[in-house]
Amino acid sequence: MRRKVIAGNWKMNMTPSQAKALIEETKPLVAGKDNCDIIFCVPFVDIHAAQEAAAGSNIKIGAENVHFAPKGAYTGEISAEMLKECGVDYVIIGHSERRQYFGETDETVNLRTKAALEAGLKVILCLGEVKEERVNGITDEVVSMQTKLDLKDVTVDQLANVIIAYEPVWAIGTGLTATPEQADETCGVIRNTIAKMYGAEAAEKIVIQYGGSMNAANAAELLSKENVDGGLIGGASLKAKDFSIIVNAAQ
Ligand code: PGA
Repeated sequence: MRRKVIAGNWKMNMTPSQAKALIEETKPLVAGKDNCDIIFCVPFVDIHAAQEAAAGSNIKIGAENVHFAPKGAYTGEISAEMLKECGVDYVIIGHSERRQYFGETDETVNLRTKAALEAGLKVILCLGEVKEERVNGITDEVVSMQTKLDLKDVTVDQLANVIIAYEPVWAIGTGLTATPEQADETCGVIRNTIAKMYGAEAAEKIVIQYGGSMNAANAAELLSKENVDGGLIGGASLKAKDFSIIVNAAQ
């Protein structure tokens, strides 16, 4: 049985004081819900406040991006070593909003993934098809290609620190959710790709989340699917009650 992982992706929301308040509100609602891992990935400037608020609880804190270079002339970027020293455990890489608005490609996603893993961070690697790709029936090809390119040269040992978030781009922030069957099927395609790349054991172990308008109402059904090992949650992670219902569904 794979352990479920419920991760919030706050995106560009919450000031440090708001971050503190949201975590204080969420903490008692998820206390003792220890049958899944609970993570909030937060803006860089919220990391410290979020960690302070989460201290001693079952909530772990992650970042939303990381640069691939160890240091240097990359104005505005943050390195893996910086995150590590801040006590961050997880980092989201390759979110579709980064691919769409900030020029991320499978190549830079792969570089970032390797840099994060080498620094000892756990990676939540996001991938998924856009609407036209699903309509044209090439979802399976797209997600397996992304899986291969994004994990190029990542070793089987390093893979133990990778979570994949399958996020159909058409479902993110749109209120449209993949059906549980679609989510299960495509997470299964990703798992098969991992099996081809790393063998059956690694494929059996890897956590594959679904993300894209997962909410309090639909989480239980999505999470009941064999290949769906958790959720990456945007909008609903900004509401303590809704997020805690999703955590409950993962118990
Ligand atoms: P959403 O975002 O839950 O608001 O659709 C998910 C994500 O982008 O990770």
